[in-house]
Amino acid sequence: MKAIILSGGRGTRLRPLTYTGAKQLVPVANKPILWYGIESICEAGITEIGIIISPETGEEVKAKTGDGSLFGAKITYILQDQPAGLAHAVKIAQPFLGDAPFVMYLGDNLVQSELTLFLEQFAIHSLDALTLLCPVPNPSSFGVAEVDGAGKLLRLVEKPKVPPSNLALVGIYIFSPVIHDAIASIQPSPRGELEITDAIQALINWQNP
Ligand code: TTP
Repeated sequence: MKAIILSGGRGTRLRPLTYTGAKQLVPVANKPILWYGIESICEAGITEIGIIISPETGEEVKAKTGDGSLFGAKITYILQDQPAGLAHAVKIAQPFLGDAPFVMYLGDNLVQSELTLFLEQFAIHSLDALTLLCPVPNPSSFGVAEVDGAGKLLRLVEKPKVPPSNLALVGIYIFSPVIHDAIASIQPSPRGELEITDAIQALINWQNP
């Protein structure tokens, strides 16, 4: 099992805090947000971590976070030349990921979840994708999931005008390498990004032809 943390992007929604720096380095209780993700991944026993960085803020992220020795991990930095979407970030990380299953963690995420439990479920049920969800009052601002009574994903939609539920994707995913095939099968969305929700939806469609 490997992990990637997405620390590229534009950070427009956190402006003006992020005009001058990476939003993933904004401190929370004196620690960069990004580091909470690294720690949570390391606590789950994953030590090979790829961090996706942008040309604008990548050097700052690297300088602050280092090679992983601070955390007992090995960090590889992966440059994404433009914020072309979460699935695009996975695509460019494929040489790093190889055939390994992996955790994908959004670097601006502050969900303090115990990853181990989710990794166990992923393995026990031999899943291809597992996503963490959280009920929110404003689902239209998020990727939204429709699930059945057993928690099986039925449908995912990105920022829907009419949300099918109040369950938002909170930025932690676990994938088998089959996600790479799903990403290869999708086209950029109307906002010009390769969406991870579209890739997961492709997986759902393949399993329910
Ligand atoms: P988002 O919040 O989806 O995008 P953003 O950071 O560009 O923000 P905004 O909408 O405020 O302009 O990104 C979630 C995380 O993923 C964040 O840490 C940035 C990162 N990211 C990438 O690394 N590459 C990408 O192509 C995108 C879209 C996001």
